[in-house]
Amino acid sequence: MYSRIAGTGSYLPEKVVTNADLEKIVDTTDEWIRSRTGIESRHMSAPEETTSSMATIAARRAMEMAGVGPEDIDFIIVGTTTPDVIFPNVATIVQAALGIHDTPALAVETACAGFMSALSIADKYLRLGEAKCALVIGAEALTRIIDWNDRTTCVLFADGAGAVVLQPSEEPGILTTIIAADGQYRDLLSYPYGVSSGFDKLRSGAPAALTMKGSEVFKVAVNKLSKLVDQTLAKAGVDKSEIDWLVPHQANLRIIQAAARKLNMPMEQVVVTVTHHGNTSAASVPLALDTAVRDGRIKRGQLLMLEAFGGGFTWGSALVRF
Ligand code: ACO
Repeated sequence: MYSRIAGTGSYLPEKVVTNADLEKIVDTTDEWIRSRTGIESRHMSAPEETTSSMATIAARRAMEMAGVGPEDIDFIIVGTTTPDVIFPNVATIVQAALGIHDTPALAVETACAGFMSALSIADKYLRLGEAKCALVIGAEALTRIIDWNDRTTCVLFADGAGAVVLQPSEEPGILTTIIAADGQYRDLLSYPYGVSSGFDKLRSGAPAALTMKGSEVFKVAVNKLSKLVDQTLAKAGVDKSEIDWLVPHQANLRIIQAAARKLNMPMEQVVVTVTHHGNTSAASVPLALDTAVRDGRIKRGQLLMLEAFGGGFTWGSALVRF
């Protein structure tokens, strides 16, 4: 038994922030941002929007494509770094908004790899016959944890949500997934304010924001992702020449190009949305997937390599027959 992606959906907030807009806020240039990251614009959630409200819209769109209703969903899992509140968890808020009851509703917190973790877990439930119709979501309101005076981070991160519906299938489907982490890198990329640590800073109203040592993150990301694609292909017994599309985490165009080179794939076979989405963390892979499914690039039966890398560090991949 396998699981297969029966539908995809996504949501981007209406407000677009261009590089020219950022030039007015911090000491940066459109040229610097484009050449170092590939980003031209990104979306920013409105004050009344939340991670769960964006996730709910993406989920509805995926359910519509899959032709399923709230009564069909029996498993919900959301990857996010920016939940609405500490508890109840964001998946339960999405569950209530969709009118779904009495199902598992889990949130996983593995930064930019959040969707890959969620997909890997949901896939296991379906393969074991423990679920029949799973909603797997990646959603983020990252612009809420950014220091808008810090040019090294504010030009990168953005908001959005993506979702897939998984159903059981006798044919693959998801051929394999890998997830992993190495916590020794926590200081290179983090938002170090929470409940049992750093709460005093939040309470005092002092500015608290995501911090990143960008060039060091870059090096580890390229290295880990390069090993990850090899491990994924070996685990599935698939040759890289068989892959139709690389759907990578959209952090930086140069990291994406390095992953494509590793797979000998021309950029025409790589889904690139970082240009207009920025880095939406856990939302990035399902947003890119849905974009390429809806514009007709990704077709049924094609083989996709999904991969992501994020704070922790955490990373994950999936080889998917769409
Ligand atoms: N505009 C202009 N100059 C800038 C900006 C900016 N927005 N940001 C930094 N600079 C300056 C720096 O201050 C530095 O100046 P200096 O040489 O005078 O000190 C110079 O540009 C070079 O800085 P670097 O950090 O070395 O630049 P780099 O080429 O590494 O690019 C970047 C930075 C884009 C952040 C890159 O390192 C990167 O993409 N890293 C990976 C990020 C990532 O993949 N994160 C992964 C997951 S994200 C998640 O999990 C949430």
